Amino acid sequence: MSQEVIKIRGGNPLKGKVTISGAKNSAVALIPATLMANSKVTLEGLPEISDVKTLMSLLEDLNITTTLVEGDVLEVDPSNAVNKPLPNHKVQSLRASYYMMGAMLGKFKKVIIGLPGGCPLGPRPIDQHIKGFEALGAKVTEEADGMHLVAEELVGAKIFLDVVSVGATINIMLAASMAKGKTVIENAAKEPEIVDVATLLNKMGAKIRGAGTDTLKIEGVETLHGTTHAIIPDRIEAGTYMCAAAMMGDEVKVENIIPLHMEPLTAKLKEIGVDVELYEDYAIIRRPKTYAPVTITTNVYPGFATDLQQPFTPLLFLSNGTSTIIDTIYPERFRHVAELQKMQGDITEGKGFASISHSKLKGAEVAASDLRAGACLVIAGLAAEGVTTVFNIKHIDRGYSGIVEKLKALGADIWRETI
Ligand code: EPU
Repeated sequence: MSQEVIKIRGGNPLKGKVTISGAKNSAVALIPATLMANSKVTLEGLPEISDVKTLMSLLEDLNITTTLVEGDVLEVDPSNAVNKPLPNHKVQSLRASYYMMGAMLGKFKKVIIGLPGGCPLGPRPIDQHIKGFEALGAKVTEEADGMHLVAEELVGAKIFLDVVSVGATINIMLAASMAKGKTVIENAAKEPEIVDVATLLNKMGAKIRGAGTDTLKIEGVETLHGTTHAIIPDRIEAGTYMCAAAMMGDEVKVENIIPLHMEPLTAKLKEIGVDVELYEDYAIIRRPKTYAPVTITTNVYPGFATDLQQPFTPLLFLSNGTSTIIDTIYPERFRHVAELQKMQGDITEGKGFASISHSKLKGAEVAASDLRAGACLVIAGLAAEGVTTVFNIKHIDRGYSGIVEKLKALGADIWRETI
């Protein structure tokens, strides 16, 4: 059976500018949130990725009209929304479909939905989401046709998260926005995407305070209404291009960023010697002559993002010395290691960490095991001698809008091919 691959002939310097799209991990929560309104919601600046298309199609299954205008503006009209069980196969194609649970529970007080899928990063439980829904009064059971979440009524509660979880924080916030009374989420995650979702919900009439801190206070409301919202830029996509530029960039301008969101990454880029200049909404990156080794430990925001440890890894082959990457969020997120070894990378994996030493990468046939592993392999291919072929690129297309076009515009020799 034929399949599409991305091919890269390495060695070209990168020069010019790249514009960052709207944040995937925000978009995947904002779209489900729109179903809670009783009139039209417009989302501006959405990334053109397959996860967005899948969520639009899940909304359509609930009789909600979704219209894409000019590629990146989504109009959602939920005024005729009806509650229906959501089909398993679509739900399983992305992990973030779990946000349909919180949104539908808030609006309809009843949800039947398949279990979420997503990137294989090791165990990814949703026990904290369920704990939150149950605290609000929902009965959650697993049946043959999926998960059933049913509540007579949702009543605000105090919820302490045992694990700092982006997904659980957003999901509970969605449901609690339409619960009776006050909900407090303690030990909440603080990622910028959570603030973005809270901003949309507040514009829709919700009463949420404290987003971006570890305590969220939500006063439930009976109805939510339509609004217009512009999504934040994707800090992980921006970080991916900053890593590519740090490796191959003579001078690359990364446009449409929020510099504050980039600080955990830029601190590490500077530590290895990369020239990073931050301006109001863009960054200029120039690669250095020599790179220092570094230790990176991923953590919840504002720590170093787990989503950027894989795209950062290829850079460390240029350092004189051994670097270490420890992933405390997903200790099994190291499936790119074996692929980088195929490219002659001197990299080994231990329990929850990888060690990376100086190597000259060579083009090879490699496969993306997940979204950010795919980005990592593309970046490695930009520096490698010869041609790298990346298989399994459906993962990359789930989260990177026009990655081939954007890198080509910067001067990379990169193309898609059906083989
Ligand atoms: N966890 C639990 N129980 C839960 C929820 C999470 O034990 O109920 C654990 C997870 O296993 C993990 C940690 O808590 O070890 C953090 O997980 P979190 O819930 O924060 O992750 P998520 O919401 O499922 C989002 C992003 C991921 C990103 C993580 C961490 C979306 C759609 N996904 O996932 O993004 O890696 O936060 O920042 O927002 C990606 O973009 O490539 C990606 C995987």
